[in-house]
Amino acid sequence: MIQVAIMGHGVVGSGVAEILLTHKDSLTRKAKEEINIKYILDLREFPDLPYADKFTKDFNDIVNDDEVKVVAELMGGVNPAFDFVKRCLEAGKSVVTSNKELVAKKGAELLATAKEHNVNFLFEASVGGGIPIIRPLNNCLVANDVDEIAGILNGTTNFILTKMIRESMSFKDALALAQQLGYAERDPSADVEGHDACRKICILASLAFGKHIYPDNIHTEGITNISLEDVEYASQWGGVIKLIGEVRHLENNMLDIFVSPMLVSNESQLSSIDDVFNGILVKGDATGDVVFYGKGAGKLPTASAVVADIVDCIKHISARKYLFWEDSDGSNVIPYDESMTAMYVRATGDIHVAENIFGVVMPLTRKNMPKEEIAFITQPMTVKVFNEKVKQATEIGFTIINTIRVADF
Ligand code: HSE
Repeated sequence: MIQVAIMGHGVVGSGVAEILLTHKDSLTRKAKEEINIKYILDLREFPDLPYADKFTKDFNDIVNDDEVKVVAELMGGVNPAFDFVKRCLEAGKSVVTSNKELVAKKGAELLATAKEHNVNFLFEASVGGGIPIIRPLNNCLVANDVDEIAGILNGTTNFILTKMIRESMSFKDALALAQQLGYAERDPSADVEGHDACRKICILASLAFGKHIYPDNIHTEGITNISLEDVEYASQWGGVIKLIGEVRHLENNMLDIFVSPMLVSNESQLSSIDDVFNGILVKGDATGDVVFYGKGAGKLPTASAVVADIVDCIKHISARKYLFWEDSDGSNVIPYDESMTAMYVRATGDIHVAENIFGVVMPLTRKNMPKEEIAFITQPMTVKVFNEKVKQATEIGFTIINTIRVADF
């Protein structure tokens, strides 16, 4: 019998307990060991649960118990999760987590600690919830050099954008609906400002390219300034607006990585990923495009990935799995200014003058377009050159209403 502990009995933690208890027989068969929850760490009381006797408020009960071999960290945030996870690894326990903030900010250090103590640190649930992506990237696609990863990595913003696109709901109303349905937090900033997607693309990029990418070094834009007018222009162009986390491997071995809303063509496989679903496109040099699709959040989908990691740890109790990346100073990432992209521009001004400044552009229209409004798509250029042109246009009287990247996948 293998003793495990769960730290945090919130949405995901209670889902993990539920799956471990309701699937006990099939998990025993698959893990070739009976899995017993010995402790659940939470400061709250849950007296009515059938497993109420397993709760403790004291982390020391877990870290000091040599019988506990695997710990699931499902508390979220960096403090005290980082300290608890590190101490568990140092105590010779494998740790699994769904905590993307922890992995994105402290992954290199925790992977090194796990390596040093010959235990596992696994985090399938940290990206894409129930969608298998970490293990496929680390194992099944290992024969490939990854050229690019582009993903719809945040369900809340995808739900909001879908409502804007399919039902012409305003950003504000779609956000209120997401909050009412429990998809968005009362403080939705981590989702709508792109930080959650940033943490996830950082984890995928660190794994795919072997060096830690820290979220603070990544250009991150959210969806708060996307309007229904932008959605209409995108539709006339033949696409939709999606919040994308993207990393590209450039020829000089540098990475171009960012989070940004993007105009995505209807021909792209990511364009039809709607509502709270996530979709991740991986371009491998041998496989070509591979797309991972499914529920990127929620109690049982996320718990499913956590339990799979627990079983994997049990199967590898005395043989560490090779999941690793090195720390890095960020010198393998190009400055955002050097990123190449075509841009969508919505402004007031004259389209012919705009062409003199931006070069050849593709003009766009929409229903009831005000006489003085223009919208167009530029040719690809660096962000630096584009910003210089925006400045030039502003200096001669253009009002730039919005600018959005255009995807090339
Ligand atoms: N807030 C996140 C989302 C939860 O909407 O995708 C899952 O990481």
